[in-house]
Parts: sequence; structure tokens; C-alpha cells
Amino acid sequence: MAKPIKKEPVMSVKGMHDIMFDDVHYVERVMKEVRRVAEFYGFQPITTPHLEKTELFERPLGEESDVVEKQMYNLRTRGGDKLSLRPEGTASVMRAYFEHGMQSLPQPVKLVYGGSFFRHETPQQGRFREFRQVGVEIIGDDDAINDAISIRVLFSALQGLGLKDIVINVNSLGDRVCRPAFRKELLAYYKRHFNQLCKDCKQRFKDNPLRLLDCKEETCVALRKDAPQMMDHLCEVCKKHFSEVLEYLDEMGIPYFLDVHLVRGFDYYSKTVFEVFEIMSPPQVVEEGDEQGVKPEVATFTKIALGGGGRYDDLGELIGNRKIPAVGWALGVDRVAELMKKKSIKSRPETHPKLFLIQLGPAAKKKSLVLMEELRKIGVPIAHSLSKDSLRAQLNIVSKLEIPLAVILGQKEALDGTVGVRSMETGIQETLPMDKFIGTIKSRLKEFS
Ligand code: HAM
Repeated sequence: MAKPIKKEPVMSVKGMHDIMFDDVHYVERVMKEVRRVAEFYGFQPITTPHLEKTELFERPLGEESDVVEKQMYNLRTRGGDKLSLRPEGTASVMRAYFEHGMQSLPQPVKLVYGGSFFRHETPQQGRFREFRQVGVEIIGDDDAINDAISIRVLFSALQGLGLKDIVINVNSLGDRVCRPAFRKELLAYYKRHFNQLCKDCKQRFKDNPLRLLDCKEETCVALRKDAPQMMDHLCEVCKKHFSEVLEYLDEMGIPYFLDVHLVRGFDYYSKTVFEVFEIMSPPQVVEEGDEQGVKPEVATFTKIALGGGGRYDDLGELIGNRKIPAVGWALGVDRVAELMKKKSIKSRPETHPKLFLIQLGPAAKKKSLVLMEELRKIGVPIAHSLSKDSLRAQLNIVSKLEIPLAVILGQKEALDGTVGVRSMETGIQETLPMDKFIGTIKSRLKEFS
């Protein structure tokens, strides 16, 4: 008989991981909180497919963007269609807007979505190949109040998740009217310093000069300091729009930092752009002299953004041949969940069981099934080990779980219609009729909350 070939066990794909146990609760909590706040502000949920036609992303996101150029998971169907696993959600939501005739609904249309997205990036801390996002889009209105409302939802959701040290970095990228002149000046500046640019930036200089401002290489970061700023080139319309956004943020008391070099990874942005970060060290407050107030430039932020977004008034033309102004953002759910864990924020409201069910003998085991369902109906979580039959094995488990009360159902109790309730701290046990136990257990458990 041929010897079986020893095979390595099949593992998950690099950069794509299983999410297990309490981590699932974290992911769900982030998604739910964003949806809860968004729905309060009138957003409606939408779910779009994981696979889309490749062309939906190519031009709209930017043919020279890192995501389109290097990170898309592309495939060809047997019929020859070119499809891609979605790398982000905005293009899909915009497609859905046109496909379902949402222009005929009252504008703006406000949508909230979430799920898995895919980018073939080098996996590292907070960067995966399959990751989750939750985001909102406000489509069909160019008023600055929409930019502010979207940021309101972002900020409130993060606060609702217990994340207090959050700052929004904002900038304006101008529009088709004012950006070309800025681009020209930027190119002139970087042309003078071309030899100091890193290899990638030499390419960016040709393909996508705005992205020069986003390079993390030391020499490029140093060059950025004296680079021209879009803020100095904004046309009157963009200037007014941006100052309105900032006024609304001031009015709502949302902390922001004007990051004049902030650019984003996709080509579709215009006017407002923003990213949200955890503050690592708080801004320094200066109390004396001329420079009273907060000096945000002294604050340090985490390097990786928790989320980002902005206005994309030209995307509609690329996807649906119509100019439809819009604004939105997406939050990196995995990154937010990680931060919550780091800060010991709970994944969900307290549901740790305070009761453990011990059953002894076949009749009691059957009765346990009924008792557990009764407790579920009145909302009392209970731990158990129905597959263990010995008292000692079950008591061993209770002691490890730090549960204050054990409910004991033995052969005698099963016949009598009673249960034993034992305090794990004192060892004192009382016997109660089953109906009395169900009627009083909720209030008794309050002692342990
Ligand atoms: P983005 O900045 O590419 O924007 O992604 C938003 C957030 O998703 C990031 O800030 C980050 O937290 C998370 N993220 C991105 N890539 C990864 C990754 N490889 N691993 C883990 N997390 C990641 C967008 O996707 C735009 N569609 C946002 C938007 C909505 N703009 C307007 N509307």
C-alpha cells in the first residue's frame, strides 16, 4: 500500500485572518455604533457586493493610485469579464446610487455601509489584505453642512465607543478651478528638489504629484515643510466652503487640526478631506505670553489613521455621467477594535454569566434544558457544562469562571420540582421551588452586579 503523503495543514491566506471569540464582538460593536449614530442622523443602510467590475475602480480611484496600480485583487471570469474584489466602498455606493435611480429621491441621499474590503498590501501592524470598514456617504448636495454632519457622525460614533482622545485632521484640496495652478507650483517646487526625492516619489512626480505630500520617507518629509500649500491657492468658492466646514466644527466643539499637507490616496477627492487619529500626547496648552491657547502642532498623533474621507464632487461624472456632489468617510474597523482593546474598553455590555448550572443524573440533565430556556426568556445569562456529569468536574469549572452562584439540579430536585442555589463564596445552599427561583433570580442577581 502506498504511503500517505505528509501534507502541511492548510493555513489562512497571508494578510487575511480569522476573527474569533471576543474579537468578533469588538468588530460588531464598532459596526453597530456607527450605524446607530448614522441612523439617528437619517442615514439608511446599504450593502453592496464584494465583487464589482474592475472598471468601477480603475478610473474613479485613479489609475496611478497605489490601490489600483498595485493592490487590487483582479480576476477574469470564464466568460471573460474583468472583476475585482472591492478595495473600498465609495465607488460601489455611487454606482448603486445611479443604478437604483436614487437621484429621484429627496437629496441628499444618506447611506451607511460596512463589511470586508481587500487590498494586496504588505501586512503589518493595522494593515491587512482583508480588512473591515464601516462608512457613510452623503450624496446629492454640495452644502458644507453635509461635510460637517458626516464628521459629526464619525466623531460621535468614536466617542460612543469610549474613544475620547481623537482628533480630526482636515484640509481642502480645492477643485478643478483652483487645483491646476497649485499642481503647477507643486511640480515647480519638487522639480527644484528632484534629486532629493525617494525612488517612489520620483515616479509620483510624473504620475500623481499631490501624493508627493504623503510620502513617509525622511527626506521627502523634510522637503514637504517648505512645499506650497493648497490653502494658499483656494479659489473663492472653495475657500468659502472650507471656512463654513470649519465654522460648523467649531460650533459643534469637534477638535480638529488643520493639516495643510493632508492629501488622500484616491483621485476622486475635491475640497474637504480629513483623517481621524488617536492623539498620543495631548496638545500643549500655552498659558502665558502672546501665544495663548492650544498649540496643536505640538500634539503627536498615531501614524496610522483610524479612518478617512472627504468630498468627491467629481466622482458622479466618472461613474454615472452626471455631476453629483457628495461627501463621506470610512473607518478601519480592525484598527478601531484594536485601539478599544488597547484601552481596555469592553467589547459589549456586561453579559458575563453570574449563574452556573450544575446537573447531576439523567433526569436532571433533561430538566436543565427546560430551565435554561426559561432563564434565556427572562434574559438571565447562564454558564453550564452539560456534557460533564460529575459534581467535582462541574464545580471545578465554576471556580475557574468566578461565578458567584451555582444552581444545582440533582435527581432529587428534578423529581421534587425544586432547585438548589449555592453561594460559591460562602458555600451556603438553599432549596427553592422552581417557579419561585425563576420569579426571584433576576432581583437576587442584582446583588452581584
Ligand atoms: P481609506 O483612507 O483608503 O479611504 O480607508 C479608510 C480607512 O480604512 C483607513 O483610514 C484605515 O483605517 C482603513 N484601512 C484602509 N486600508 C486598510 C488595510 N489594508 N488594513 C486595515 N485597515 C485599512 C477609503 O477607503 C474611502 N473609500 C473613504 C471614503 C468614503 N471617502 C469618501 N467616502
